[in-house]
Amino acid sequence: MPRKIILDCDPGHDDAVAMLLAAGNPEIELVGITTIGGNQTLEKVTFNARQVATIAGITAPIHAGCTRPLLRPMRTAADIHGDSGMEIHGYDLPTPDVTVESAHAVDFLIDTIMRHAPGEITLVPTGPLTNIALAVRKEPRIVERVREVVLMGGGYHTGNFSAVAEFNISIDPEAAHIVFHEPWPVTMVGLDLTHQALATKEIEAELTALGGPVAQFVVALFGAFRENYRNAQGFDNPPVHDPCTIAYLIDPEVVSVRKAPLEVELRGEHTAGMTVADFRAPAPAECHTQVAVDLDWRKFWDLVLDAVKALS
Ligand code: BDR
Ligand code: CA
Repeated sequence: MPRKIILDCDPGHDDAVAMLLAAGNPEIELVGITTIGGNQTLEKVTFNARQVATIAGITAPIHAGCTRPLLRPMRTAADIHGDSGMEIHGYDLPTPDVTVESAHAVDFLIDTIMRHAPGEITLVPTGPLTNIALAVRKEPRIVERVREVVLMGGGYHTGNFSAVAEFNISIDPEAAHIVFHEPWPVTMVGLDLTHQALATKEIEAELTALGGPVAQFVVALFGAFRENYRNAQGFDNPPVHDPCTIAYLIDPEVVSVRKAPLEVELRGEHTAGMTVADFRAPAPAECHTQVAVDLDWRKFWDLVLDAVKALS
């Protein structure tokens, strides 16, 4: 039985790859895509999600969510994702042929989770956690029905938004606090893991060799992502964060994890948005959170390549 997931995302170059991996792998059933303002405005990331769905023939319904964080002002990641949120040079993105559903993402999340049996739906947030936090507050019973939450965000050794804080968590730390403190199983796939998911030239060559429109799109996507990551953060090869969540769900051997209580810093002149993982042993019996530690780089990219091939 494929794993049913809802991908809550802000495409975003790496969110786009998460969409492709989820749609192109037989172990995953993409029940819905919800969008959240993050890498760019809600309007832009929702448009981008529709473009990716059009390129890859993804038929999962798309629902737009929150335009801004719970408490803080909206900020975007234009330095990494460009003015459109999915900037690509020398490639014509299509006019979307898929529409956005009328229901708000928060209502779609609640309705879908409550309609399914307990333990059936897995949530995969790869943007700020505003939609998920609001869904929990609106319908607290979703907590016992969701199988698990596997999110991209945070880190325990490094940051990218600040020295110690990661972008998705920094944009809406209050939402992250809500998500971390509900008693559902949470896996935090943070920067310590995703900085291992580098799209090298070797991977680009393998994608190019696959041929076909989806592979061409991903190659173009990585070209722009590489340039932006080099300029903004000094990376030679861009870290493709978001699909690591999906890879973990497809094959837990691709991503090793370690149990640790998690907190998010809400105040702190230099630390707001930082995630704090408590690795002291033994982890308390009630600990329901874990963090991703090591990536099997080759297996990860094989999953992405297989998905791209399947979608072509
Ligand atoms: C995260 O921030 C976004 O820019 C990416 O899409 C990813 O979800 C990495 O910090
Ligand atoms: Ca993202």
